Amino acid sequence: MFRDRIFQDQVAVITGGGTGLGRAFSLRFAELGARVALASRNPEHLAATRDEIRRAGGQALAMPADVRKPEDVEAVMRAAKDEFGGIDMLINNAAGNFLCRAEKLSYNGWRSVVDIVLNGTFYCCRAAFPYLRERHPGRILNILATYAEGASPGTVHSAAAKAGVLALTRTLAVEWAEYGIQVKAIAPGLFPTPGAAERLWPGDPAGQEARMRQMIPAGRAGRHDELANLAAYLCSPYASYITGEAVVIDGGMSWNHPLFDWRSV
Ligand code: COA
Repeated sequence: MFRDRIFQDQVAVITGGGTGLGRAFSLRFAELGARVALASRNPEHLAATRDEIRRAGGQALAMPADVRKPEDVEAVMRAAKDEFGGIDMLINNAAGNFLCRAEKLSYNGWRSVVDIVLNGTFYCCRAAFPYLRERHPGRILNILATYAEGASPGTVHSAAAKAGVLALTRTLAVEWAEYGIQVKAIAPGLFPTPGAAERLWPGDPAGQEARMRQMIPAGRAGRHDELANLAAYLCSPYASYITGEAVVIDGGMSWNHPLFDWRSV
């Protein structure tokens, strides 16, 4: 589907790029020719993915950074510029989440997730802006969740923060269009990762995942390559007229709220 090395000579900064879905984005973008700068709080999370990209002949940089700290985020963007010459794409993938009823959620728990997801995304966009505006086009891709436009009982912090990132996506798309920067988002449904299993399906992850699969018309969870290919498409010239848009990728889950027992008719 893609021209080989469609991102040749381009630079992508990917937050949370060492593990889970971030790792899938990093590997796919590197495979398509991008030089990738991976940022994450945990250096151990980054090293393996960076080395995997390098072993495959790609270029990767690992930068320990907490997206909640503007000074860390600015250092990441500077390092990407110094090492690779600029920034073409920013994927805001770093996230924090855990299951907790709203009435039991501590103020600090709320703050931690909103800080990572909403504030962290803004800090990264803001810090990458001077570099992105030098490229034509600069691209920002924000990773949401299907519930960014709905509700997510059990993760009110994440639901509110992702809704904020959706509004941020649409607003920046308008404000920064004049600088040639496209701002888009992906809203993934169920794409299992070890981190999500540990935090969101504690106890019996297999049983809970099976229950979720029943809610998905496609009958299965999403594959990481499916998500990474959508990200690549949205950042590619094939999607050059798309901005301010959030693309849902969930096997039809968001539309599966039947009022009727239609399967029995
Ligand atoms: N249930 C209830 N409260 C929780 C919690 C849980 N499972 N996990 C964390 N918290 C609370 C903590 O108790 C703390 O609040 P307190 O100070 O009032 O006790 C607050 O959240 C911050 O936790 P802490 O572990 O100190 O913060 P941190 O900055 O190290 O971690 C998180 C941030 C909480 C988002 C953590 O889950 C994280 O690091 N996540 C990154 C990975 C991730 O979540 N990826 C997404 C997978 S779907």
